[in-house]
Amino acid sequence: ALKEQVEALLCQMTLEEKIGQMNQVAGSRDTTGAPANTEIEADVREGRVGSVFNAFGVDFTRELQKQAVEHSRLGIPLLFGYDIIHGFRTIFPIPLGQAASWHLEGIERAARIMAIEGAASGVHWTFAPMVDVARDPRWGRVMEGAGEDTYLTSLIARAQVRGIQGRDPGAIDTLAACVKHYAAYGAVEAGREYNTVDMSEWRLRSIYLPPFLAALEEGCASVMTAFNTLNALPATCHPLLLDQILRREWRFEGMVVTDYTAIMELEQHGVAANASEASRKAVNAGVDMDMQSSYFIKTLNDLVQNGQVEEARIDEAVRRILWLKAALGLFEDPYRYANDDREAECLLSDAHRRAAREQARESMVLLKNEGNVLPLNDRHKKIALIGPLGNTRRLIGSWHGNGDHNDTVTLSEGLANRLVEDAVILYAEGASNRIGDTDTSGIEAALELVRQADAVVLALGEDEADADEAASRADIGLPGAQLELARRVLEAAGDMPIATVLFNGRPLALTELDEIAPAILEAWWPGTEAGNAVADVLFGDVNPSGKLPMSFPASVGQIPVYYNAFNTGRPKGVDPKYASKYLDIPNAPLYPFGFGLSYTTFEYGALETTCSEIGLDDTLEVSLAVTNTGERDGIEVVQLYLQDVHASVVRPLRELKGFQRLELAPGTCERVTFRITPDMRGFLNAELEHMQEPGLFRVQIGGCSQSGQEIEFRVV
Ligand code: IFM
Repeated sequence: ALKEQVEALLCQMTLEEKIGQMNQVAGSRDTTGAPANTEIEADVREGRVGSVFNAFGVDFTRELQKQAVEHSRLGIPLLFGYDIIHGFRTIFPIPLGQAASWHLEGIERAARIMAIEGAASGVHWTFAPMVDVARDPRWGRVMEGAGEDTYLTSLIARAQVRGIQGRDPGAIDTLAACVKHYAAYGAVEAGREYNTVDMSEWRLRSIYLPPFLAALEEGCASVMTAFNTLNALPATCHPLLLDQILRREWRFEGMVVTDYTAIMELEQHGVAANASEASRKAVNAGVDMDMQSSYFIKTLNDLVQNGQVEEARIDEAVRRILWLKAALGLFEDPYRYANDDREAECLLSDAHRRAAREQARESMVLLKNEGNVLPLNDRHKKIALIGPLGNTRRLIGSWHGNGDHNDTVTLSEGLANRLVEDAVILYAEGASNRIGDTDTSGIEAALELVRQADAVVLALGEDEADADEAASRADIGLPGAQLELARRVLEAAGDMPIATVLFNGRPLALTELDEIAPAILEAWWPGTEAGNAVADVLFGDVNPSGKLPMSFPASVGQIPVYYNAFNTGRPKGVDPKYASKYLDIPNAPLYPFGFGLSYTTFEYGALETTCSEIGLDDTLEVSLAVTNTGERDGIEVVQLYLQDVHASVVRPLRELKGFQRLELAPGTCERVTFRITPDMRGFLNAELEHMQEPGLFRVQIGGCSQSGQEIEFRVV
């Protein structure tokens, strides 16, 4: 019925009105928060706008919608889009942090809450999930994704789509999702934003595309093209990506929108001489909606008139846009998402804050805990809190939607909330975390406080703006004079317990810090409840359970360094000279993918299988016992890696194929069983066909990609 409704509408539309639907423009508010739409409103009334992005807030969206519905010829409602990436008003940890929880239900719940809040505030459509696999931490947008692994990213993409879209796309508390950035944006050369991407189709299909397919299989409503080129063609006019793979192979019927001004950028890329050529290439490749270039609105009419674009292509694009509006229920009630009561009730509700705190705790990764410095305890009465991240509200990360720093709990407040009555916090910034700010003049004052304290918390890391879009860094050490600050504080602290908490949006190069700091907790940017959640973990009210979704390099010179690499023909350890290695740094990262410590210990029992030889279509069960051998409750993410030892193409040394998150009380043991299915053993062969081959396989199960129990089996 929806499709019939759309066809009927399409028949009434002029070519100009159809092209208007393909035009998306930015909405904006003035500084008082009041709508400032005058220019857009005129275009909306004339049917020249199909969608407005950066549009949220009940009053703002209602007013704009009124212009479309009551004053345009056909009254077609607008579609309001907004980047709700890790929270609308209640901000959850940055996506990379969420990924470190390996807790799919928690990630789905966070996405559900952000959709509930956005949908109450007039938003229809969010530009999430971002599923760009990334192996280069210099790229600032690694903070928005799920890290370096295809399988983990795919599962998280599914969870996010489920959370955003809910079970019923027409439900009032859900949003339409938009998987982005299609494709391979995470592989920009040297981690430099917007840079070239050039890779084999094998790598593209094996590593970078599966998370997109996973999101679409989960029902994701739309796709956003990427800014980058891929093998000499910009993604925004890429027939292989947009037509062959997306439409023909994956049979995607939803809408494709570009990234911001990406059609205009075809000129800068050098594949279009003018606006008209850029539009033609994008629309003919399969783009349905132009974000912010206004090239479609300027040029498509002429392109259709002179036969360079078929009107059928325009109809196809408009149909997809109208289907989405219809599926969201906008034709029945264009104002249904803008609801004052719901907006007032749900934004930043206590329940949402509690969920944000819970997820923030789960996202933290304990990188080091020599001598069990952590957790701190109530005997610590004077805590010196030192560092630029100790007393700031800039802990929600970039892409924080409508999140307000004023709602954010600082670390200093979080510790104060947790401390017993007679305990005090002595705070000094010590040094800045601004890139290039090497001023050390504040260190002495910080040392004064350290000398008075009985425990120290060092709060170091990046500023929110420094891991973001257009925020690549070449040197990914601690910015500013923070390492110097850490060195001097550690010296002054002597034997006093000292814990370093890191707030950052990417893996950092931490070798020097790791050499001197006994305890390091990676907190990412934890969101609205930051300070409370960090205090929960520092004091052991919660046992850290996060595992890294991305390798932390030992040196920037290793990048890209990732766990699922190939062996090479001359792996390290065979011939000491002619080996694949560096002369001056190790091959291994400092902290590998999947790594994370706990306040308790887990023992992995031997792996058991029912047989050591199976047929191509068989599933093999592998099981083991995991025991909590420590003295605290703990959560362990048990990870299964698989290696196809000999195949027709080279296979990685290990690939994540499964994991289970176990909650274990002290002294308890749980038996874990993994099923290794034929699909998990499959891969793309040299002809890009999905294959499964007989031969030897190695299974590794453990608490990290670089360690675990191993067993072999043969497929015959
Ligand atoms: O959704 C974003 C995208 O990720 C980066 N460029 C701008 C878009 C809209 O804000």
